Amino acid sequence: MESSDIDPGTLAYQQLRTPPSIASTHFDLSRIPTSERAQILQDFILVPGYLSPEEQEMLLAAAAKKLKRALGKQVRYEDGHFDGVITRYRECSATDWAGAAPSASEVLDDRDKGTTASETLLSTIPQSPQGTNRTSPSEVMQSIKQEFFPPCWKWVAPHILELEAGRGGIKPHVDHLDASGEVVAGLCLGSDAVMELIHEGDPEKQFRVLLPKGCFYFQRDTVRYHYKHGIPIELEDHQFKGKVIPKDRRISIMLRVSVIMLTTVVSVQNGSTCSEVAKKELNTPATPYPS
Ligand code: OGA
Ligand code: MN
Repeated sequence: MESSDIDPGTLAYQQLRTPPSIASTHFDLSRIPTSERAQILQDFILVPGYLSPEEQEMLLAAAAKKLKRALGKQVRYEDGHFDGVITRYRECSATDWAGAAPSASEVLDDRDKGTTASETLLSTIPQSPQGTNRTSPSEVMQSIKQEFFPPCWKWVAPHILELEAGRGGIKPHVDHLDASGEVVAGLCLGSDAVMELIHEGDPEKQFRVLLPKGCFYFQRDTVRYHYKHGIPIELEDHQFKGKVIPKDRRISIMLRVSVIMLTTVVSVQNGSTCSEVAKKELNTPATPYPS
């Protein structure tokens, strides 16, 4: 199929890369074979400074309020988590932040107009939205979905994760295959963090990414499915290129594409347009997200 038959939003998504200038400052790929580095930068997209300072403040306050309402002062310990992956954390879901996703019929109505994923996205990544302060969490979620991803995609409700200063961390894991599809995305607030990624079948293959507060990132495809990811628990392991990165209280807002997308993604990658996908979805009942 000709690339001109693919929705502009889908094409822009496929062409996203982390640019070399950001790779050189925020990625440590020294333990990845040279021939595989380009694939990593294609499947782990990092946008430092995606959120303005005002947006970070707004999201931090909103996330803290949600956590407090859901959990009070409760902090969970290692053995409190169902699979023991996260230490010293609090988490909750933010269903009402999902933003109004376009319905399948809206996507069908829009099929001749192209998408809001702008032409400037082609071969590059969106810059931080200077002067476009978004004033609610839903607005931020909505703009992420529109700027980076095909418009027909369905998303799980955002998830808020707080890691305690000093001691919070995440052991290397692959996100549950039945809980999300090919994209796992995050907004980082409150503290810089080091993410370590380790190849599942070949643990010698590892890389690290410095996730600065205010960044947006996502992992997809080979990185999402073949690399475990985590945030080192011990401060002395929380290093990037030999430098210990301080651990303040950190809140991430995780956005995951719905599993129902698995079939959709395959058809989008095969060149179906979003409107074709939407037509199929009109006849497909939604499956609930396992809680
Ligand atoms: C997770 C996870 C990463 C982050 O919640 O599964 O990997 O940036 N989070 O908080
Ligand atoms: Mn994860």
